[in-house]
Formats: sequence, C-alpha cells, structure tokens
Amino acid sequence: MPRIGIIGGSGLQALSGMSQLKHMDCETPYGSASISVGELGGQDVAFLTRHGAGHSIAPHAINYRANIRALSDLGVENVIAVNAVGGIRADFLPGHLVVPDQIIDYTWGRESTFYDGRPSPNQAAEEISVQHIDFSEPYDERLRCILLSVLAALDMPHGYDGVYACTQGPRFETAAEIRRLQRDGCDLVGMTGMPEAALARELNIAYASLCLVVNPAPGLQAEAISLEAIMAVLAEGMTQVNTVLSSSVKNIVC
Ligand code: HPA
Repeated sequence: MPRIGIIGGSGLQALSGMSQLKHMDCETPYGSASISVGELGGQDVAFLTRHGAGHSIAPHAINYRANIRALSDLGVENVIAVNAVGGIRADFLPGHLVVPDQIIDYTWGRESTFYDGRPSPNQAAEEISVQHIDFSEPYDERLRCILLSVLAALDMPHGYDGVYACTQGPRFETAAEIRRLQRDGCDLVGMTGMPEAALARELNIAYASLCLVVNPAPGLQAEAISLEAIMAVLAEGMTQVNTVLSSSVKNIVC
C-alpha cells in the first residue's frame, strides 16, 4: 500500500526511476483520478499528474478533490507536490528550487473543500458536515525538512522558504497584479497550489511542495513571458526535481 504520493505538475508527467508501474483509474465520490503506483527509492509510491495525460487539464479545471481523495483511499499519508512557478523574490531565478512555507489563495470558483455541507453520491456521512480545519501552517514541516536536507546534500541552489501566491490562471498575471502580490508579501506565483494543499490537510495527509522557478514573474523583466524559455527551464529543472524526489522518498518514514 503506497503511503507516499507524488503529484506532478507542468513538465513532470512521469517519474523516471519508478519501477513496477501499475496504472489505476480510481473512482471517488468526486469523480475519477488516474494514478500510477510503483516503487521509487525502495518505497511504494503513488504518482499522479495533475494536468492529466498530455497536459490537457487547465489549473482551474483540475479535479483537486478527486485527486486527493483517490490518493487518500489508496492509503497515502504523505504527499510531495511539484509546482512550476514564477519567481517574485529577487533571488528566485529560473532553475531555482524552492520549498515554500506559506501560501495565499487568490483563486475563485474552485471546489475547495470536502466539507461543504452538500452531499454527493456515495459520500460518507462525516464528509457532509461543515468543518473548519487549522491551516495556519499549510505545509508539513517534517516533509519540508526532508526536502531541504536533500537539496542541501545535493548542493542544488534552493530557497528554504517563501510565500506561494496561487492565482487562477490559465493566463499569466499582469504586471500590476504581480506588484500587488509583492505588496502582499508573496515570493512565488503559481496556479495549482490551492485548493490542493488545503484538501490534503482536510484528509490528514502531510503535504509539502517542491517548486521549480521557471520564469521571472510577469512584469519583472523587460521581455514578455516566453513559453519556449519556460519549456527549456522545465526540461532541465525536472531532471533535478526527479533526483530530489528519489532521494527524499527514501527519508520518509511511513
Ligand atoms: N505565474 C503563474 N503561474 C506560473 C508562472 C507565473 O509566472 N510561471 C509558472 N507558473
């Protein structure tokens, strides 16, 4: 039974080094999720790619509830999520890896809780009630420390904290929106951090994020955002992400 889940984002459609792969379509009360289960670093791991095969699901259209519920149903208790982000903090440059410690949610209209008081088919009674979880520290400190110690041991340039701003997408932000995020104290901007992190907390899954900076946030450099440049950083950076993940899972005690 996999106790570790990895959620891949843009650029991470599969985990190299994962063996004995078994693909499963998992049904949940919220819809289905496609998950690969296999072995990585001597651990049973469930891998889910949140944008679907061929990167076909936009950030606002991802079924975050089905994904998290399916991982939980498989027995997953620890999730490392991978997110491609724009860098807002001056030293968060393309290619840097960052382990954020806080998040601000700027999204709207996403199904963002299991506890909305609205029953859906096959839903367990305890999920129908309204509940308010503590989310003051959104990321699990134990998992963050594992990621940070692996990054340090591998001598990869990285940021050990940062506030992740989750915007709605799928468009990139305006320069004024990024200035507002700067005033709010945000260091990174991405489109997929929420409600994923909060849903994991609702199901008592320890959750941390490994962010790859793929561009300076919009408006912070003279040139417009270039998808070609982002793809180039993703290609190189995800090799490093894979290395970090393989080492990190070994250190997760299940
Ligand atoms: N903004 C929002 N999401 C992103 C960015 C960005 O600049 N880069 C990668 N994902």
